[in-house]
Amino acid sequence: MEPRLFRQVLGRFATGVTVVTTGTLEDFHGMTANAFASVSLDPPLVLVVVGRKARTCQRIPQFRAFGVNILKADQAFLSDWFAGRFGSQDELSPDLQLYTAATGTPLLEGTAAQLDCRLYQSHPAGDHIIFVGEVRHLRMEEEVVEPLLFFASRYHRLGEPLTVTPPRS
Ligand SMILES: Cc1cc2nc3c(=O)[nH]c(=O)nc-3n(C[C@H](O)[C@H](O)[C@H](O)COP(=O)(O)O)c2cc1C
Repeated sequence: MEPRLFRQVLGRFATGVTVVTTGTLEDFHGMTANAFASVSLDPPLVLVVVGRKARTCQRIPQFRAFGVNILKADQAFLSDWFAGRFGSQDELSPDLQLYTAATGTPLLEGTAAQLDCRLYQSHPAGDHIIFVGEVRHLRMEEEVVEPLLFFASRYHRLGEPLTVTPPRS
């Protein structure tokens, strides 16, 4: 299969954008990830899929925990920042603050929502690892804020909500 086509086809699936955080307040690291999904309600599980070459791939098993920070529409620069497009990902953008909740993982203040997860399972999958986390703490902005979207290799905002009209028989 042609890898470029594979990537292009996967890019037709629109996603939100998260920053996966690991470590401690003193030893912080963030990595942009759109391969995030909910898994189970009881127990509350989510997953992130991380490339084997990413530093985050070593750090999640090391700290046995990770954070998922859901970005807002006006935070595309943070997505680029934590994808390493502006240099170091370990430094924090000046308008960001960290806090810790249950696991000690640093979470990003000012993002749309944050999930603090204990590592529950790891599943090797080709050149990536699927990390399943048990959610130990949740926080979100009270107002529903516009999410950052990623589609066809570009950032987007939400359009208008759709009304579903059944097909005429
Ligand atoms: C929008 C976007 C989504 C991304 N999603 C993922 C992802 O789900 N998993 C992944 O391993 N890398 C993903 N990346 C790439 C990583 O963010 C990038 O390789 C990062 O520098 C890895 O960080 P680390 O090696 O310091 O952990 C994404 C990048 C962007 C811009």
